[in-house]
Amino acid sequence: MNIAVFVSGNGSNLQALIDAERMGNLADGRITLVVSDREDAFALKRAEKAGVEVLILKSTGFSEREDYDKKVSEILEDKNIDLIVLAGFMRILSDFFVDKYDGRIINIHPALLPLFKGAHGIRDAFEAGAKDTGATVHFVTRELDSGPIILQESIKIEESDTLESLEEKIHKIEHKLYPEAVKLFVEGKLKIEDNKVTILE
Ligand code: GRF
Repeated sequence: MNIAVFVSGNGSNLQALIDAERMGNLADGRITLVVSDREDAFALKRAEKAGVEVLILKSTGFSEREDYDKKVSEILEDKNIDLIVLAGFMRILSDFFVDKYDGRIINIHPALLPLFKGAHGIRDAFEAGAKDTGATVHFVTRELDSGPIILQESIKIEESDTLESLEEKIHKIEHKLYPEAVKLFVEGKLKIEDNKVTILE
């Protein structure tokens, strides 16, 4: 199964997925393409080092969100991509794209959805004084951070935690959770029904 990972930044989740593939922990999943909307994303260095093909497509030159997404989807078709894994990709996907790859796009969010949606999940939970937070892997639907939840793991926010220590703890969870979720998808073990995911035995 061919996987494309979409990135915009550091790419630590991409790295976790690359490492999992190397260790044989993604079943038949192969990361065959990394897509970035930023040419300075550190994730691109990680992809290069791992020998994964990269596509850098900046949004300049595309007046409509959908035009950008159409271009990307042509390339995904060319490369026979089966699964799209968003890993810190900072663009919102158009309805066109989400509908086209319905049930085949997954995302990781650094909070326990449906709490603390949006771009600052870790900070928002920390500033709200939440006692628990965590990470969520979910299918992507038209509504931001609202698709069926695949896996979740929670941690306590300790009084001694700083935003930085909390970020570190959450990233650690993410790097374990994301490869697990991708493997389940690749193995065909995820069934969506009534906006809920069942994990098949
Ligand atoms: C992660 O915290 C993820 O939950 C969020 O964006 C961040 C990406 O980090 N969607 P990285 O680029 O994988 O290091």
